[in-house]
Amino acid sequence: MNWNTQHIPDQTGKVVIITGGNRGLGFEISLQLAKKNAILIIACRSAQKGKEAVEKIKQQLHNNIDVVTIPLDLTDLKSIHNFASIFNQTYSRLDILINNAAVVNLKNRTITPTGLEMHMATNHYGHFALTGLLYPVLKNTPDARVVTMSSGGHKFGDLNFDDLNWERRPYHRTKSYGDSKLANLFFARSLQHKFDSDGISAISVAAHPGLTATERQQTKGIGGWLSKKMAQPVWKGALPALRAATDPHVQPLDYYGPRYGISGYPSFAKMDKKTLDKDTAKHLWNISEQVTGIYF
Ligand SMILES: NC(=O)c1ccc[n+]([C@@H]2O[C@H](COP(=O)([O-])OP(=O)(O)OC[C@H]3O[C@@H](n4cnc5c(N)ncnc54)[C@H](OP(=O)(O)O)[C@@H]3O)[C@@H](O)[C@H]2O)c1
Repeated sequence: MNWNTQHIPDQTGKVVIITGGNRGLGFEISLQLAKKNAILIIACRSAQKGKEAVEKIKQQLHNNIDVVTIPLDLTDLKSIHNFASIFNQTYSRLDILINNAAVVNLKNRTITPTGLEMHMATNHYGHFALTGLLYPVLKNTPDARVVTMSSGGHKFGDLNFDDLNWERRPYHRTKSYGDSKLANLFFARSLQHKFDSDGISAISVAAHPGLTATERQQTKGIGGWLSKKMAQPVWKGALPALRAATDPHVQPLDYYGPRYGISGYPSFAKMDKKTLDKDTAKHLWNISEQVTGIYF
């Protein structure tokens, strides 16, 4: 079966948050969920870009569509607290949380104002903190889902706990990004474990888009040329996450990606065996609590 947007059930009444919903895959996922009548919150770090994304969706669909934006900078704990507080004051349920935003393959080692390596800070710790602050509302929403966006690049990560900030080793951008995407999958697993041990009906699932032609793929040189030639269109790259978020048959810890690895319609994908290491998962969870100060 070529699972596609026609398979998305009507989402009327469902409250959905998507991080990084202003562009790239996040925007496409937002557009498709808005089309299916979801109550959509686009969480993005620029209020202006968020506003533009909301307007673009309304122009493409209709003005009465229920889509808003709330600012969220995943590298800034204050911003994450602020987002959660606005959300919790306005909404009483959260059916789907899509942790999609990311920085990718940063050329030089970059750190946040609090000294964290930028890939881990944005892609993992930020989403860990956000999900933690939204845990009570997820808990109170029957059959809620948390979708974690990872990448085939998780295979390049190894989470060196002695140097997660790449202070002592020569910086390697693919491995650093890989660490954060591996952390995403450990998080997805640990979150399901948490849901189970708390007796909650919510499920944690994951997805990756293969190689998709979002803006960030349009780099220069031979690598950029190859990416452009091989990358699938954004509408197709968005399907694994859309399936993870909406397919009624999805099971806890399903992982969806393109059928042929980098391209194709969504199908089951394989997480690297290292994601099964329970000690690493536990250690990462404990570190993430300490770093963010958020205890689920
Ligand atoms: N495209 C691919 O081929 C590919 C492959 C594997 C995995 N993925 C994964 O798919 C997801 C989406 O990728 P994409 O290609 O759509 O990326 P993208 O076009 O670069 O978009 C990234 C989004 O993340 C947001 N973001 C970055 N830093 C943020 C922060 N500190 N706080 C809040 N939002 C922040 C960006 O906001 P701004 O607009 O403000 O920068 C943007 O909305 C990511 O998780 C990525 O790892 C993509």
